[in-house]
Amino acid sequence: MISFAPDTGVWLLSTPRTSYALRVDETGAPCHLAWGPRLTLEEAEELIVPPAPAASSFEGRPAAGEELPVDGGTRYGPPSLQVRFADGTRAFEWQPLGHRVHEPVPGQTELALEFRDRHYPLLTTLHYRVHDDSDVIERWTVLRNTGDESVHLLRADSAAWTLPPRDDYRLSHVTGQWASETQLHRHRPAFGETVLTSRRGVTSHHANPWVMLDAGAATEDHGQVWSAALAWSGSWRVTVHRGPDGRAGFTGGAGHDGTALPLAPGEDFTTPTYAGLYADGGFGATSRAWHAYTLAHVLPHPGEVRPVLYNSWEATGFEVDESGQKALAARAAALGVELYVVDDGWFGARRSERAGLGDWTVSPEGFPDGLGPLVREVHRLGMRFGLWVEPEMVNPDSDLYRRHPDWVLHIPHRTRTELRHQLVLNFARRDVADWAYGWLTRLVAEHAIDFLKWDMNRALSEAGWPDRAEGADRLWTAYVHHLYEVIDRLRADHPALRIESCSGGGGRVDLGILSRTDQAWPSDNTDAADRVSIQHGYSQIYPARTMAAWVTDVPNQHTGRSVPLRFRFHVAMAGVLGVGGDLTRWSDGELAEGAALVDQYKTVRHLVQHGTLHRLRTPAEDGPTAVQYTAADRSEALLLIWQRTPRHGAPRLPVRLAGLDPAARYRDASTGAVHHATVLTAYGLLPDLPPGDWASTAVHLVRVPAPSSLVSRGAAD
Ligand code: GLA
Repeated sequence: MISFAPDTGVWLLSTPRTSYALRVDETGAPCHLAWGPRLTLEEAEELIVPPAPAASSFEGRPAAGEELPVDGGTRYGPPSLQVRFADGTRAFEWQPLGHRVHEPVPGQTELALEFRDRHYPLLTTLHYRVHDDSDVIERWTVLRNTGDESVHLLRADSAAWTLPPRDDYRLSHVTGQWASETQLHRHRPAFGETVLTSRRGVTSHHANPWVMLDAGAATEDHGQVWSAALAWSGSWRVTVHRGPDGRAGFTGGAGHDGTALPLAPGEDFTTPTYAGLYADGGFGATSRAWHAYTLAHVLPHPGEVRPVLYNSWEATGFEVDESGQKALAARAAALGVELYVVDDGWFGARRSERAGLGDWTVSPEGFPDGLGPLVREVHRLGMRFGLWVEPEMVNPDSDLYRRHPDWVLHIPHRTRTELRHQLVLNFARRDVADWAYGWLTRLVAEHAIDFLKWDMNRALSEAGWPDRAEGADRLWTAYVHHLYEVIDRLRADHPALRIESCSGGGGRVDLGILSRTDQAWPSDNTDAADRVSIQHGYSQIYPARTMAAWVTDVPNQHTGRSVPLRFRFHVAMAGVLGVGGDLTRWSDGELAEGAALVDQYKTVRHLVQHGTLHRLRTPAEDGPTAVQYTAADRSEALLLIWQRTPRHGAPRLPVRLAGLDPAARYRDASTGAVHHATVLTAYGLLPDLPPGDWASTAVHLVRVPAPSSLVSRGAAD
């Protein structure tokens, strides 16, 4: 809901549990008033504070305060909007033009505040969208050049978010690298500025465009947390700042330092959405609100249950051929797999990383009769068929590169740096994007493909576009817009097609790509022990419904570590279960155990994929890690517990559950034991874990229909 007080100019945006208030002040600038617990319009008006006289001639306008701090005047904080007009003038001065409020669809309300520069022909519109069923507020900005000369956007953030004053703050965010993505960190943000960014042209393994801030004492279950996530899959920058008064805020948007976006006469730029959330209920409530929002408002097919997948990459590497794939497919089907995916190596001269990328015709060597016989066999076995593609890349040793050496990102007189023996196709070019769309839509149609794993295996470098004026500045956004457009066109052509976002693992996971794909590959690291912390970081914002997780062979290809099959399954069952081992080498015993665990997953996956997550115990070296997924109506819950390497003598602690129906009893579906919800939540369940390293369990609890005369047993006292 959005309301307005014309006398004071206060706008109040209300979500089910939170309020956001702002006002166009006497200077015409949009200023922040509040972001936190629910307020009435009258209460929000009380928050208007007349500007204090400057303490000295050295103080400027506080950085925390404008809805989109612009460059200019006495502002010395990080600008969210920094422009250069044709005559070299840089500052922007707000002149309000009006506002619009409308409901694009039932349950959503949008506010657009329109401004122009007082002198120059640039329109700046701040957009806000609230939902009836979510506390997430979406914000974005539209900039339009209404003049007849170019304007350069040196920085065009989507939004700036201001926190209420607190004695101190703490910042949560993730860092990582290839094969160790989404490592969670919590620390005090510096006085000054903390920049989180990707300059790689892709979301990156190294940072992810979300932040959470709290006053320093929030826990998993308690405390106020302010967070935001950017829906963008290219370079990005988020600057968290603390002014001299200690107050915190942050600004974020597409693009990294040193790039500028030219706006030609008449052209406009719509920033990506930067969504923000205030939650009182700690990091757990914050994550659950993001998960619910992603399911309700981001994913294209949120209601679907994702199938159990098999992927042949770790089993075969580039040794992909029809008979080998058929042998794996037969075993996968017997295991209960529902979607069979052929990974890299099925096309052109792709027999290693060195050649063939870009030549998207089926390899006659591996598939003398084309892909048809394999696709038919996979379908006959009752599974869907998926294929790996990497449309944005080319090996220099390919027919495509020999034909179109100018299609790659490049800068005259500069080395074309290869990573993994590949160069980046310039998706910003219309012809390149159209070429990719053309072969992809034909491929999907000709081979009845149900699923694509869309990969992107290197960062951009020598990011130039010499044929295009100011191409090196334009390409960062145009690349991403064309990527989105190609995916959108493909999905429109093939409504049944489902897509996984992969970038050498979790290099491209964000709300932008998730709004047009169905799941993501969080990491190439399939070691179950490492995966526990990768999944923990992933789950802070992104829901399990999007988190693909495979069971692979041991010793693990990345870490050399061996952990039991059951532990590997239990970890992968916390997301969208997949299998990636060489099934032709699994013993009968392993195949039987795997089939039983796949079966078990199918009985609980609706809880994982559509339930609510409680992280009961966060990853620890020597203690159990535990997560719980609960049905929305609290009729069922799944508890997954993973114990790494317990220290001898460490106390065995009960795991306290959460979110159950307090008056109910729940039956353990495998042991039959019945527990009172109050006992499970207040005192806890002593997990039945065998002694030793790598013990794990999956407990499926089902509410006992009331009334019941069963007596509880088996709970910890
Ligand atoms: C990337 C992906 C892997 C696999 C390989 C194939 O690394 O993340 O899962 O598909 O490419 O080359």
